Amino acid sequence: MATIRDVAKVAGVSVATVSRVLNENGYVHEDTRKRVETAMEELNYSPNEVARSLYKKKSKLIGLLLPDITNPFFPQLARGVEDEIQKEGFRLLFGNSDEQPEKELDYIHTFVQNNVVGIISATNDRSDTNYKDLSIPVVFLDQTSKDYPSVYGDGREGGRTAAKEMVKRGSKRITILKGPAHIQPAQDRFQGALEYLSESNVDFYVMGTTSFAFEEAKKWAKELFETYPDTDGVLASNDIVATAVLHEALRLGKSIPKEVQIIGFDDIPQSSLLFPSLSTMRQPAYEMGKEAACLLIKLMRKEYVEQNHVEMPVTFIERETTREVEVNE
Ligand code: RIB
Repeated sequence: MATIRDVAKVAGVSVATVSRVLNENGYVHEDTRKRVETAMEELNYSPNEVARSLYKKKSKLIGLLLPDITNPFFPQLARGVEDEIQKEGFRLLFGNSDEQPEKELDYIHTFVQNNVVGIISATNDRSDTNYKDLSIPVVFLDQTSKDYPSVYGDGREGGRTAAKEMVKRGSKRITILKGPAHIQPAQDRFQGALEYLSESNVDFYVMGTTSFAFEEAKKWAKELFETYPDTDGVLASNDIVATAVLHEALRLGKSIPKEVQIIGFDDIPQSSLLFPSLSTMRQPAYEMGKEAACLLIKLMRKEYVEQNHVEMPVTFIERETTREVEVNE
């Protein structure tokens, strides 16, 4: 593998000159820069990024923190972030916080020790104390924040729309499965659904849940039909829980959507493959990730930012767990 000395020899310059070209510091005549860059291409030379970042005290790395990538919603966020930063020559350093503040803080320390140039955090630690002393830009993703730049889906309107679409399709005894209290997006969508149903001429129940994880979702679904056996519509706070509700309803022999309608939230890729396929509220996760990356890169470059808080629309995706809209005679 070619070294910086090989590059200097081929370009006919000193190692120090090659270093100035690599680290973009100090004056280098344009002709000299071109000779060094040509030599690097000919020798297929790639600088030692760790050495470079230690020297410059910054790297090409961006830290991304997600709660848990076993939830299919979050890899879509990550993909949007990565596709955008790649275009600008940056690379991801990634971690799962598992909703544990100490693990989140540990990752932030790891990011700083690796000289990341910015952080995107999609975790649910609303204290944000972990971030206040950092000297690099931070963007919150899938989180609203008054103190930090953030990109998120319009949960409240999404909750309202889910409730409206279910009422339009004739459900009269609706159960709202409220998402975990520590997840603000889940509370926003619950409030939206609650507002709409409170104004509607239907009965509704509220059942609290404390996790979005697959392993607990089956428990919530079982508890739902044991507690509210007459429910004819379920508004789930995410697609994982909605999937478990569908599974349990079919296991109980219920006809979907004839007896029970189900609407989820997120529109993870798997939801369209269920049978019947899941009606849900689509959060533009990939686009949210791209938007957060764009925002962070502008902040890193100290460019003008038109909007520090970007709320992205959530849309109803009609599939087979909801009926046709009832046309009032
Ligand atoms: O499925 C995970 C949920 O938690 C998503 O709705 C996302 O908004 C996150 O907050």
